[in-house]
Amino acid sequence: MNLSTVTSASRAGPLLPHLHSTSPSRTNVTENLAIEGRNLSFSVATRQGKTVPILKDCSLRIPLGQFWMLLGPNGCGKSTLLKILAGLLNPTKGTVIVKRPKSYVFQNPDHQVVMPTVEADVAFGLGKFNLTHGEVKLRVSKALDAVGMLSYQQRSVQTLSGGQKQRVAIAGALAEACKVLLLDELTTFLDENDQLGVIKAVRNSLDSSEEVTALWVTHRLEELEYADGAVYMEDGRVVKHGDAKSIFDFIRARQSAYIKKINS
Ligand SMILES: Nc1ncnc2c1ncn2[C@@H]1O[C@H](COP(=O)(O)OP(=O)(O)OP(=O)(O)O)[C@@H](O)[C@H]1O
Ligand SMILES: [Mg+2]
Repeated sequence: MNLSTVTSASRAGPLLPHLHSTSPSRTNVTENLAIEGRNLSFSVATRQGKTVPILKDCSLRIPLGQFWMLLGPNGCGKSTLLKILAGLLNPTKGTVIVKRPKSYVFQNPDHQVVMPTVEADVAFGLGKFNLTHGEVKLRVSKALDAVGMLSYQQRSVQTLSGGQKQRVAIAGALAEACKVLLLDELTTFLDENDQLGVIKAVRNSLDSSEEVTALWVTHRLEELEYADGAVYMEDGRVVKHGDAKSIFDFIRARQSAYIKKINS
C-alpha cells in the first residue's frame, strides 16, 4: 500500500489527506487530455499580511496515456503545481481538470508501504470495490507485474529497498485502476539502480495500459529520456511545454547560456 496514494493515505489515518478519489472530475477533461491546468495561480499570505505569489498563470495540457515530466530549478513551484493537480491545494485562480481516479505518490519511500507483505499492501485499497478473492489476486498480480515486482509478491515490505517500495506504491495505484499518477521526485532518496527501476516501472505501466497517464516531477535532466513530453518551470511560471527532446534541448541551451554569462 502506498501511503502517498489516495489509497495509502486512507490507510495512514487522519494525518495524511485522502488523495485518491473515484468521484467524477470537477469538469470534463478535454477529450484526449488526462490533465489540464488553465491559468493557475497560487499565492500565500505572510503573517505581515503580504501576499506572496508562488504560481503565476500556469497552464499545462498532458495528453491521455503519456508519461510527462515537470522540471525546473529548486523552489520554482513544481511541487505546488503537482499538489494543485492532485487536489491537495486549491489554486488562488484558474481551473484544474484531472481524470479520475488519480493518485499522488510522495517522495519518501518509507512513507509508502505499511502492510506486512507486498501482496497485502497492493490489495489494501481494493476493499472498497467489492471484488471476489480471485479478482483481487488478479489485479494485484497484474499491477505488480507492470512494475516488475511480481516475484516479490510474498515478500515482507520491510525487506524492500526504497525503489522497490516506490514501485509497490505505484502498483497499489494501478491495482485501483488509477488513470492519473502524480509523482513528486520519487527518485530523490534512491541509489542509481533503484532510480532506474522506478522510472522504468512507470514507463512500463504506461506502455502496458493506454489508460494510465503520469506526471513525474524531477530535477534530473537525464530522466527526460523516458518521457513523452515535459513542462519546464522557472520562478512560478511555465516557461516551456512540449515534447521531451525539445525541452531537453531548451534546458541545455539555457544552462549553457547561464554558464557563459557567469564565466564572462
Ligand atoms: N505554504 C507556503 N508558504 C510560503 N511559501 C511557500 C509555501 N509553499 C511553497 N512555498 C514557496 O514556494 C516556492 C515553490 O515551492 P515548491 O515546493 O513548489 O518548489 P519546487 O519546485 O517543488 O522546489 P524543489 O525543487 O526544492 O522541490 C518555494 O520558494 C517555497 O519556499
Ligand atoms: Mg518539490
